[in-house]
Amino acid sequence: MWLFLLAVLSTTHTIVTAESKCSVDTQARSPKYHLIEKCYRSKLGMVSKANYTSLTSCQRLGIEKKGLAINFSPREAWGESNETVDYTCEVLKCAESDGGLSMVNDSRYDYYSIYAKPVPHVNSSCVPALGMFFIITKKQNYTLGLRECKNLSSLPADVTSEQRTDALAQLLLGNSIEMAFVGMRSKNGSAFISITGDALDCTTYRAWAPGSPRRARKKFDCVLLTRTRMWVSMPCKKNYPMLCELVPGGPYKRGSLFASRKKANETMTENKNDDEK
Ligand SMILES: *[C@@H]1O[C@H](CO)[C@@H](O)[C@H](O)[C@H]1NC(C)=O
Ligand SMILES: *[C@@H]1O[C@H](CO)[C@@H](O)[C@H](O)[C@H]1NC(C)=O
Ligand SMILES: *[C@@H]1O[C@H](CO)[C@@H](O)[C@H](O)[C@H]1NC(C)=O
Ligand SMILES: *[C@@H]1O[C@H](CO)[C@@H](O)[C@H](O)[C@H]1NC(C)=O
Ligand SMILES: *[C@@H]1O[C@H](CO)[C@@H](O)[C@H](O)[C@H]1NC(C)=O
Ligand SMILES: *[C@@H]1O[C@H](CO)[C@@H](O)[C@H](O)[C@H]1NC(C)=O
Ligand SMILES: *[C@@H]1O[C@H](CO)[C@@H](O)[C@H](O)[C@H]1NC(C)=O
Ligand SMILES: *[C@@H]1O[C@H](CO)[C@@H](O)[C@H](O)[C@H]1NC(C)=O
Repeated sequence: MWLFLLAVLSTTHTIVTAESKCSVDTQARSPKYHLIEKCYRSKLGMVSKANYTSLTSCQRLGIEKKGLAINFSPREAWGESNETVDYTCEVLKCAESDGGLSMVNDSRYDYYSIYAKPVPHVNSSCVPALGMFFIITKKQNYTLGLRECKNLSSLPADVTSEQRTDALAQLLLGNSIEMAFVGMRSKNGSAFISITGDALDCTTYRAWAPGSPRRARKKFDCVLLTRTRMWVSMPCKKNYPMLCELVPGGPYKRGSLFASRKKANETMTENKNDDEK
């Protein structure tokens, strides 16, 4: 399901008429891996590895395994180090967020991620092989929450699978949040439509809490995910936290993964200087 998000930003305003449509061509909507930094390797956990000579093969494995990032060792880098590589293609469960804390210098590898612009916010949480998410804890209505998600290159999170509902409920639990708006709504009494653009009828999984969805869909037009893994229908105008999901994208601005790290260091150094004065 995470594959669908790529095409969503441009379609969210037109999905009112998409009730009967279900996405079929998932391959066309697969995210791309963007080159982040050459001669770097991320030490985040691997979901798969292989010995491929071509980047394309490695990217294909990445998509198949739903990796959020990859380390790839191109042939031309093999000579630059006396250390040989075990596997040229490493598919990672998660992607580096701002600061690149698991990045190490390694002339044998280049690091690629589906999240290139902007790089994931330092407070975003990774759900392995699913995506990167963050919670806007401020209670506000759906419209304002949506605006804040979009402002951070994200959208309300898709919950239309058991894996997503379970993992994201866990995320709420871990952050001591009772419930939050997610990416599903009804417009003017229509059937519920996921943020992916698919009508809920396109999938069979349901996690409605007892009493949900309410008949009065025109009024109960938004959906909350609870930390007990249930969906609750709720008026969009009520105020709740918002669960956002990063939308993969690029292009990458060279060095931006480390920009905040450098900035933090500068500030630290400046402060030190201030103390000495
Ligand atoms: C690679 O070369 C460096 C010095 O050039 C040496 O310190 C290191 O042990 C070598 N590593 C291997 C795996 O041979
Ligand atoms: C993968 O390929 C590299 C380079 O050809 C080689 O050194 C390495 O032993 C291979 N690894 C495996 C597990 O076959
Ligand atoms: C990698 O090496 C460069 C230059 O030697 C250095 O500026 C940078 O801080 C190093 N990065 C990491 C993550 O070690
Ligand atoms: C990240 O979260 C911490 C703790 O909740 C907070 O103090 C910090 O300001 C947040 N960082 C950013 C960049 O929002
Ligand atoms: C959008 O982001 C900018 C800069 O990051 C911030 O100044 C602004 O307040 C944000 N707007 C909303 C609605 O969150
Ligand atoms: C909402 O639905 C009603 C009837 O179901 C229709 O008359 C009305 O024009 C619709 N409003 C919008 C904004 O689509
Ligand atoms: C959300 O809140 C804002 C600010 O209070 C308000 O202007 C807007 O109409 C509200 N939207 C909904 C759908 O309630
Ligand atoms: C901060 O920068 C200084 C030099 O400008 C460097 O020696 C130090 O290792 C850096 N610290 C971190 C945490 O990057």
